[in-house]
Amino acid sequence: MTYDKKTIEDIDVSGKRVLVRCDFNVPQDATGAITADKRIVESLPTIRYLVGHGARVILCSHLGRPKGTVNPKYTLAPVAVRLSELLGQPVALAADVIGPDAQGKAAALKDGEVLLLENVRFHAEEEKNDPAFAKALADLAELYVNDAFGTAHRAHASTAGVADYLPAVCGYLIGKEIGVMGKALQDPKRPFVAVLGGAKVSDKLGVINNLLDKVDTLIIGGAMAYTFALAKGGKVGTSLVEPDKTAYALDMLKKAEAKGVGFLLPVDNLCADRFAADATPVPFDAGAIPDNMMGLDIGPRTVKLFSDALKAAGTVVWNGPMGVFEFDAFAEGTRAVARAIADSGAISIIGGGDSAAAVEQLGFADKMTHISTGGGASLEFLEGLELPGIACLLDK
Ligand code: 3PG
Repeated sequence: MTYDKKTIEDIDVSGKRVLVRCDFNVPQDATGAITADKRIVESLPTIRYLVGHGARVILCSHLGRPKGTVNPKYTLAPVAVRLSELLGQPVALAADVIGPDAQGKAAALKDGEVLLLENVRFHAEEEKNDPAFAKALADLAELYVNDAFGTAHRAHASTAGVADYLPAVCGYLIGKEIGVMGKALQDPKRPFVAVLGGAKVSDKLGVINNLLDKVDTLIIGGAMAYTFALAKGGKVGTSLVEPDKTAYALDMLKKAEAKGVGFLLPVDNLCADRFAADATPVPFDAGAIPDNMMGLDIGPRTVKLFSDALKAAGTVVWNGPMGVFEFDAFAEGTRAVARAIADSGAISIIGGGDSAAAVEQLGFADKMTHISTGGGASLEFLEGLELPGIACLLDK
């Protein structure tokens, strides 16, 4: 997918009310405190540009999945506080999205001031991409900026519908995400190696297929690999598998062979008799896991195999952990792959979601070229799908 979209620098924002869709869907603990503010931090360049150019900034976002009803658990109030600290200026929070408070506060904004609307998913119309709701949002402003990369794969009112009613451009975050990932897919520094992991083959069907057309080597770890082992006639014990995806797995192995793409699967696994942090790890050859054992990580020989393949890489795209990295005893595979990517000197792109969390938790975040703010969105991008939140923006 290629995009050449107008950006905030291509329009005159001075003195204008600008509606900016951000992805402030941040993780929170039980008390509502924000536990990772990466998505807020990554929105700052766009907001600062708009403030610096005298725009009247109206931010909107979803948080969680409140299913179309007002639920204080999902208020954006903590985001307004954190954003205000990071920006170093007040960020007012409207009590509603398109109601009288939002309308009054939006109309009263002065140049360079910032307002945050309440959670757009407090309205069921948001996820239905309801035209009347999109128009009501648009009526608050004169221009629309989408910078919510993490939600760009959703065709919702605030991510796509609103562009029917306002001149629509992208912000710096979307520009950066599609710039780095687009270049990797279209014109990668070679060898281009993709590492896929995580629980399910079914989540990554399209990604495997699309990446096989682009990469020199595809590495598969995580629980996904047990489905491949099963497809090849191996024994996987009680490991997580998707028997209905074995035919697809074989097709992908054939496709790789036909295209001359290297396809690396684990040769050994760290296994345990139960899914628990204190279970004892025991190594077994891949495809030879006893009936009462489950694979929870890649094994030491696989670590070496994968690390060697990553050493010479020019570009690496990584999506999905190699094992249950949340358990210390089964984190080594993911840690070793992170270390190999960091040491390779390759252009390294980490898909959002679990892989981003793993890289951050294991201490490799500052060694990577780009960690995407999108989980589902980055997967769909890697799959080659059109993202509605970007497709709706004005072309250059
Ligand atoms: C995400 O966290 O992946 C995005 O914010 C999208 O959220 P959603 O899956 O609830 O649409």
